[in-house]
Amino acid sequence: MNILILGSGGREHALAWAIKQNPKCDRLIVAPGNAGIADLAETAALDPCDGAQVTAFAADNAIDLVVIGPEAPLVAGIVDELRAAGFAVFGPSAAAARLESSKAFTKAICDACDAPTAAYAHFTDPQAAKAYVRDRPTPIVVKADGLAAGKGVVVAETTDAALSAIDDMMGGQFGTAGAEVVIEDFLRGEEASFFVLCDGETVLPLGTAQDHKRVGDGDTGPNTGGMGAYSPAPVMTDAVTEATLARIVRPCVAEMARRGTPFTGVLFVGLMIEDGAPSLVEFNVRLGDPECQCLMMRLGGQVLDLIQACAEGRLDGQQVHWADDHAMTVVMAANGYPGAYEKGTQIKGLEDLPEDSFHMAFHAGTTRSEEHVLATGGRVLALTARGDTLARAHERAYALVDALDWPEGFCRRDIGWRAL
Ligand code: AMP
Ligand code: GLY
Repeated sequence: MNILILGSGGREHALAWAIKQNPKCDRLIVAPGNAGIADLAETAALDPCDGAQVTAFAADNAIDLVVIGPEAPLVAGIVDELRAAGFAVFGPSAAAARLESSKAFTKAICDACDAPTAAYAHFTDPQAAKAYVRDRPTPIVVKADGLAAGKGVVVAETTDAALSAIDDMMGGQFGTAGAEVVIEDFLRGEEASFFVLCDGETVLPLGTAQDHKRVGDGDTGPNTGGMGAYSPAPVMTDAVTEATLARIVRPCVAEMARRGTPFTGVLFVGLMIEDGAPSLVEFNVRLGDPECQCLMMRLGGQVLDLIQACAEGRLDGQQVHWADDHAMTVVMAANGYPGAYEKGTQIKGLEDLPEDSFHMAFHAGTTRSEEHVLATGGRVLALTARGDTLARAHERAYALVDALDWPEGFCRRDIGWRAL
């Protein structure tokens, strides 16, 4: 098979690494890719959001399957364009990607099937939003309706903080993404991420993970795209998983099909779990980054069979073969992230790191300049390891961190603290 993956981050490096292990994979192209990806696959300078360009490239290269990593091309309708041109694609249509691109849409889907989620209201008028906030207890959560690169959520401890979040969002801080807001009650409990494959009808659980969103040790400082993750998430017991499938995932997937916009691809179910009861915090319509790095490390080459079955509507009867193992990924970011950071610093020692089924240095934001690897992004590397226990995976992942020579980068030292 000739496979094209769209994206350039650690998630796409991990997807490429796992897919490449499957003997069915002949040619593997990642567009646009990064320096780490270029070590194991071909890369191509495509804009993943440019449907005409991607479709022409897929035709010229006899691509059999297209795998979409990030949300932006999904929301822009890349899957619709590729499917119309006859390609098998892993990812949702633009209509189904609304589960990520509109928080109000997701809330309406939950309402329609009575899925547990925080009580909320949806506003297009700032004065009405402010009046609502003044009547509600704090903390309260203010969310820009649209895509805001993970920055569109404010957990406000005070009414004043909520009022200024409304002013910021509805005043254009995130452009049109904040023109509408969802305001919801604060949920208590422990967060977890649950990933399911879906071919429109059949739902197949792929795995669980826990992310660390804050930049600093002890979950302090500003939110980031994710500073590390581990899989599985201990809070996702069999009972919590079954409750999530029965009360949230299957009803929402059925509601999407009923509306004529079936969901296909991977659904990222962000949950808050309190006393064993799951509530939906958000859906994303793609794999998490860095959660994907842990999942791929554990799944290996079988992921291609699963993705292909999903893209071809054959999930019924498929099985995920899980080993009794654990994975952890530690993100190394450029000093200053998630604020302003320096670009172009040199990372030394990468070539000496072990690369095998227990260790992988996935690249998130790198480029190669002659024989040097340079940091180009905020999140730069995802150092990932697997083990029989989480403690072993933790030890191996931090051994990778400690073997690197990159003074311009940093990481959290406490990934996995809750489970360890
Ligand atoms: P979201 O982008 O909707 O996942 O929100 C980002 C983060 O904000 C989540 O991972 C939670 O940590 C937090 N969050 C969002 N909604 C709520 C809520 N209703 N209650 C508590 N925390 C929330
Ligand atoms: N790590 C969270 C996300 O991918 O949205």
